[in-house]
Amino acid sequence: MFALRVKKEFTEEVRKNLFKMGLVDKKRVFLKNGGYVEVPLIRKLEKDEMELFKRQDARLINKKLSLKIFSKTPFETILEKTDIENKSLLPKKWEIIGDVLILKIPKGLEKHEKKIAKIYADVLNAKTAVKDMGITGRYRKPRIKILYGSSTETMHKENRIKFRLDASKLMFSSGNIDERIRMAYVSNNNEIVVDMFAGIGYFSIPIAVYSKPKKIFAYEINPDAYRYLCENIKLNNVQNVVIPVFEDNRNANENIADRVIMGYLKNTKDFLPKAFKILKKSGGIIHYHENYPNELLPEEPFKNIKKAAEKQGKTVKLLGFRNIKSYSPGVSHVVLDVKVRS
Ligand SMILES: C[S@@+](CC[C@H](N)C(=O)[O-])C[C@H]1O[C@@H](n2cnc3c(N)ncnc32)[C@H](O)[C@@H]1O
Repeated sequence: MFALRVKKEFTEEVRKNLFKMGLVDKKRVFLKNGGYVEVPLIRKLEKDEMELFKRQDARLINKKLSLKIFSKTPFETILEKTDIENKSLLPKKWEIIGDVLILKIPKGLEKHEKKIAKIYADVLNAKTAVKDMGITGRYRKPRIKILYGSSTETMHKENRIKFRLDASKLMFSSGNIDERIRMAYVSNNNEIVVDMFAGIGYFSIPIAVYSKPKKIFAYEINPDAYRYLCENIKLNNVQNVVIPVFEDNRNANENIADRVIMGYLKNTKDFLPKAFKILKKSGGIIHYHENYPNELLPEEPFKNIKKAAEKQGKTVKLLGFRNIKSYSPGVSHVVLDVKVRS
């Protein structure tokens, strides 16, 4: 039998890719072994498959990992502990940011919401549980109500990055994890990057830690997000790379960047003219996020980019397109990687 041995910090990334490729032996356990984790495989990996994990320095080993002892899922435990009518309405999904639980309470369960929140928080080991009532405004601020516990400030760890934030004031989308991991490696030490919508450093900090570009100028207008951005830069020790800028990105310096990140989902296209100007005159790369109905992807968002480019006499080429997550029924949050030339 075979397993893939990877350094602990790369486990999440490798695990996700192996799962997507259908190669993980789900009946067997993952084994922690010193600074490494051994991932059980259903078969030996071919040479070209091993190439995919070269960057993470993964090694194929001949090892039979133990079979799992099946225990209850958290949701099964929650169901058992809850004694209300309409149990079938209980949410099967939730978000955990650090040790704060974000829960959607379906219609019909509101009168039990505090009781439900306590049970979920106990089972999921959260210190606080809040009700998710959507995201609003240009700051993308969450609307929440505390149902259990009190403090909403927390530290979320992911891919060896620490993100401190207050979950009552700032969003953190766990569904964007793959994109945060992907972005961590897109740059290199020759580049200047501008993150037009930095938030608490969702993309700037992973890029600084893993790609180590010359500089990242991280623009943010929300004072709460800016405060945590500054804190997270220090927490992750990237003060020499990330320059936080508490200013509207429409005032950003122009003709400076090799790469521009547009991680925003509210009229993102209105910011395209500025993004093209922030890029060096010779061109560069834009990572453009937008929400779009699935049947129009990727042509429609690419049309927006093309139109803005043509107005400035630039040409664009679509390098890649990724569906990040479902935003609402039939609508997806997508990112387009675009090469811009003069
Ligand atoms: C919350 S983030 C988007 C989420 C992020 N892409 C993720 O992965 O979860 C967007 C940030 O852009 C900021 N923002 C909006 N308009 C801006 C502007 N014109 N200049 C600078 N920052 C802006 C908002 O305050 C917000 O913090």
